[in-house]
Amino acid sequence: MKKYNIAIVGATGLVGSTFIKVMEEYGIEVNNLYLYASSKSEGKIINYMGKEYTVIDLAKAKFDNVDFALFSAGGAISGEYAPKFRDGGAIVIDNSSFFRMYDECPLIVPEINIGDYSFDKRLIANPNCSTIQSVLPLYYLDLEYNVKRVVYTTYQAVAGSGMKGINDLRSAKEGKGYSFYPYDISKTCIPEIDSFLDNHYTKEEMKMVNETRKILHKNFPIAATCIRVPVECSHGVVIQAEFEKEIDIESAIKALEGKEGIKVVDDIYNHGYPVSTMATGNDLVYVGRIRKDLSCVNGLIFYTVADNVRKGAASNAVQIMLKIIKEKESK
Ligand SMILES: NC(=O)c1ccc[n+]([C@@H]2O[C@H](COP(=O)([O-])OP(=O)(O)OC[C@H]3O[C@@H](n4cnc5c(N)ncnc54)[C@H](OP(=O)(O)O)[C@@H]3O)[C@@H](O)[C@H]2O)c1
Repeated sequence: MKKYNIAIVGATGLVGSTFIKVMEEYGIEVNNLYLYASSKSEGKIINYMGKEYTVIDLAKAKFDNVDFALFSAGGAISGEYAPKFRDGGAIVIDNSSFFRMYDECPLIVPEINIGDYSFDKRLIANPNCSTIQSVLPLYYLDLEYNVKRVVYTTYQAVAGSGMKGINDLRSAKEGKGYSFYPYDISKTCIPEIDSFLDNHYTKEEMKMVNETRKILHKNFPIAATCIRVPVECSHGVVIQAEFEKEIDIESAIKALEGKEGIKVVDDIYNHGYPVSTMATGNDLVYVGRIRKDLSCVNGLIFYTVADNVRKGAASNAVQIMLKIIKEKESK
């Protein structure tokens, strides 16, 4: 693989530092690495593959001479700066929700729809963390059984709120109080993620609805309920899906097992099912508790768990970059 010029915007944050970790693990050598954050982080030193890099204030960024720009500094920063990097010639992969529903921005889970990318659509959006781990198994099942209706219920870790969420859980656990969530997250689940909309769903819930349809290129009925839970990292999602074709436990396992990005863990009598500690630190979407939905015809209920900071954000973005590089270099 050639060496590229890579910019990371939000390099000091939870997702940004995980970009760096994942790129190092994947052995991605760089030509130049530009690490951007806010002015308060300017001058910080970050090590990448044995070399020290100095964090630069994003306000001082140069937009040319960048091949890939990975963004994780929040929607407002993406809205302002991602088009500048794109117009300077970079392929941009943005982790915020800002561009996800723009027609001209592909929304990509690399195992599913890397084909939605083209150089004239090079501002790419990374989907919501809960969407990624839900849509990947759905995609493999849809290929064979044709999904026609879905209901999601999430159990989302505090890492989904960045360092602020992790610090609130840790502080509450130590009896030092809480300030970020509206309730003590160490003692309760909170059925409110992102702000409420006029239809009484939250923005997070509607992200899952709209993004699933965009990634699968299908417009079927779908609803979601998103709940924050007292877990540090790795989200769980219960998925109730109805299909056109008859489906059972064995056929569902067959459709999922061995597929790129998926690990089936479904050995119930030996406590074999996905748990957060299994997923934290790696890039797989774990699927288990697979059973028929007794409330409808051709329905399936299953549970997925994935590391929301890795497959739900940083690793998905790095995997998109690697697939694009592979395609570029094969020409
Ligand atoms: N956490 C997750 O699981 C997850 C999953 C999917 C998507 N995302 C998205 O990824 C983004 C970052 O999330 P996070 O969890 O990594 O948050 P975080 O830990 O709070 O990190 C935020 C990053 O943005 C930088 N930043 C803030 N204001 C800036 C400014 N004015 N100019 C330049 N850089 C600025 C921060 O730099 P300083 O350190 O200098 O302040 C830091 O590097 C958000 O859009 C979030 O929605 C997060």
